[in-house]
Amino acid sequence: MERNTCMILALDVTEREEALKIAENVREFVDAIKVGYPLILATGLDIIRELARFAPVIADFKVADIPNTNRLICEQVFKAGADAVIVQGFTGRDSLDACIEVASKYGKDVFVVSEMSHPGGAEFLQSAAEAIAKMAVEAGAFGLVAPATRPERVKEIRKIIGDRLTIISPGVGAQGGKASDVISAGADWVIVGRSIYKAESPKEAACEIAEEIQAELRGK
Ligand code: C5P
Repeated sequence: MERNTCMILALDVTEREEALKIAENVREFVDAIKVGYPLILATGLDIIRELARFAPVIADFKVADIPNTNRLICEQVFKAGADAVIVQGFTGRDSLDACIEVASKYGKDVFVVSEMSHPGGAEFLQSAAEAIAKMAVEAGAFGLVAPATRPERVKEIRKIIGDRLTIISPGVGAQGGKASDVISAGADWVIVGRSIYKAESPKEAACEIAEEIQAELRGK
C-alpha cells in the first residue's frame, strides 16, 4: 500500500450506490478504503472489486478463528480483490500464520489488531497488546491496528515494533481521536469513517483531514 495522503476511509455505509459515490468523491484524499461487515453483509462481497477501481481495499473482518477457518476466510477475501485483510492477534500465532500464508500466496497484506479504539478495548485486549505486537513482527505481518483514541498507546507500540511494521490507526473524529496527534505519535495511516461519510460534504471533510495530516508531516 502506498503512503501518500496517510489516510484510509472506513466505509461503513450499507447502501451500494452511496458507498460508490463517497469512494469516488474522496478517492484523491485516501490511500485505501476499509470495508467491513456493515457494507459487505448489506451489499455482498462484489463491492470489494467495485471499490478497488478507486483505491486499494482493506477487508476489515477482524478474522479470529482456528487456522483452517482463517485460511478459508482469507482465500475468499483475496479472491474477491482485497489488497489487505485485518485479523485479530489474540487468537495466537498459528491462527495468524494461516492468514499470512494465504496473503503471501496472493502477494497481499495482513494487518493485526493489537488493541481496539473504543473504551471497551482497554478492558481485556490492552493488556495483551504489546505481546500481540511482538508476535506480529515475528510472524511477518505488514502492519498493526492501534487506537487513535489513545495516541500514547500508538507511541508505545511504535517503540516496540520500530519501523518493522506499519501502523494504521482508527478512532479519529467520531471516537475523539485527532489525526495530527496520531500521526505525530507514529501512525503511518489514520482511519476515518463517520467524520467523512456522515459529513454534509464527504469530499470537504476528507480534504480537511488530509490537510491536517500534511501540515503535521511538514512540521516534523
Ligand atoms: O466511524 P469511525 O471513524 O469511528 O470508524 C472507525 C472504523 O475503524 C470502524 O470501521 C471500526 O470498525 C474500525 N476499527 C476501530 N478500532 C479498531 C479496529 C477497527 O474503530 N481497533
